[in-house]
Amino acid sequence: MKYSDLVRDHFGSPRNLGELADPDGIGDVENPVCGDRTVLTIRVRDDRIAAARFRAVGCPAAIAASSITTELLIGRTVAEALHLTNEDVSAALGGLPANKLHCSVLAEDVVRAAVEDYRQRAGVAAEVGQ
Ligand code: FES
Repeated sequence: MKYSDLVRDHFGSPRNLGELADPDGIGDVENPVCGDRTVLTIRVRDDRIAAARFRAVGCPAAIAASSITTELLIGRTVAEALHLTNEDVSAALGGLPANKLHCSVLAEDVVRAAVEDYRQRAGVAAEVGQ
C-alpha cells in the first residue's frame, strides 16, 4: 500500500492536534469495524468554524484525514462544514488507497457529530435564554 506525500506529511506532523478548551461542539466517533476513533472539538464564531482540534487513535490514513479535515473546516460556515464529504477529504490528501477510503469516512462522520453537538447546544442555549 502506498500513501501520498500529503498523507505521510499529515501523519508525521498532524495539524491542530489536541482539544479545544470549552469547545462549542464535540464529535466522538469510532469505526465499528477497525475500532479507530477520532474526537473533534470545534469553536464557532459568527456561524463559522473558528478553530478545530482533533485527537485520533488509528491508522495513518485516519490520522492524516483528521488532520487535513481540521484545515478544511476552519473558516467554513456551519452549513458548509456539513457538506464536507469523505471524497473531499481524500482528494485533499491526494487520494487514499482503495482499502483506506473508509478512514476518510471517519473524518466526515466526526464533523457531522461535532456540528450536530454544536447545534444541540446552541438550541438548548436559545431555549434557556427565552
Ligand atoms: Fe480504521 Fe483506518 S483502518 S480508520
